[in-house]
Amino acid sequence: MHIFHVITLFPQLISSYCETSIVGRGQKAGKIEVKTYNPRDFCTDNYRRVDDTPYGGGAGMVLKPEPFYKTFEAIERRRQDSPVIIMTPQGVPFKHKFAQELAHEDELTIFCGHYEGFDERIRKLASEEYSIGDYVLTGGELPALVIIDAVSRLVPGVVGKNASVVDESFADGLLEGPQYTKPAEFRGMVVPEVIRSGDHKEIARWRRQEALRRTAQRRPDLIASLDLSEEDRKFLADI
Ligand SMILES: C[S@@+](CC[C@H](N)C(=O)[O-])C[C@H]1O[C@@H](n2cnc3c(N)ncnc32)[C@H](O)[C@@H]1O
Repeated sequence: MHIFHVITLFPQLISSYCETSIVGRGQKAGKIEVKTYNPRDFCTDNYRRVDDTPYGGGAGMVLKPEPFYKTFEAIERRRQDSPVIIMTPQGVPFKHKFAQELAHEDELTIFCGHYEGFDERIRKLASEEYSIGDYVLTGGELPALVIIDAVSRLVPGVVGKNASVVDESFADGLLEGPQYTKPAEFRGMVVPEVIRSGDHKEIARWRRQEALRRTAQRRPDLIASLDLSEEDRKFLADI
């Protein structure tokens, strides 16, 4: 069982998504568990204040350290060295390879920010800081859900057929090539003969080549970091 501990001021945003579809099924099947903790519940003042004005002036409100530290310290983590992630646009861009690494852990903790973000001292609790892209959202809940979703589907048993998460984009450093389903012909557009042939060796070869072609066209930066075979190299030189 892989546990996600999510520290958020808006737990319902996390739970409504995580009770639905594949992540929801993963929870029901006991493969994953998503738990939420609201720092507002750990405030000791009458107003349950989780934010305050920034020192030095400036717009917006900053998340206060006390409720976030208290929340974190109240979580019953299995291990003191399990990953603790802060979602921030200033973090390392999240990649599939990080999801693969995190899926091997049995738990992780995620901090969702809001308003103008965290008091700098909250960052000391984190082992990593991730961004989901070069844009600023209102809160860390969508970014946390991105991580929960990307990691959950790599936890064995969450996605029906494990092969479907092994063969897809980024898993081997390439984008996935074109996919087709029935009918074989639709409005004059015909499914390539080779993938209807039943010849598994030829199908695997075609898939590899189409993945190489698509990646070279759309993400040449990914090709540059791959360890390619002689056959791959020759194919790429000819397209
Ligand atoms: C409005 S943002 C704060 C941005 C902060 N003032 C800054 O300039 O870095 C509020 C929260 O949303 C989350 N967030 C926003 N954009 C994000 C992104 N691209 N990746 C990860 N988290 C993000 C973070 O948790 C952040 O603390």
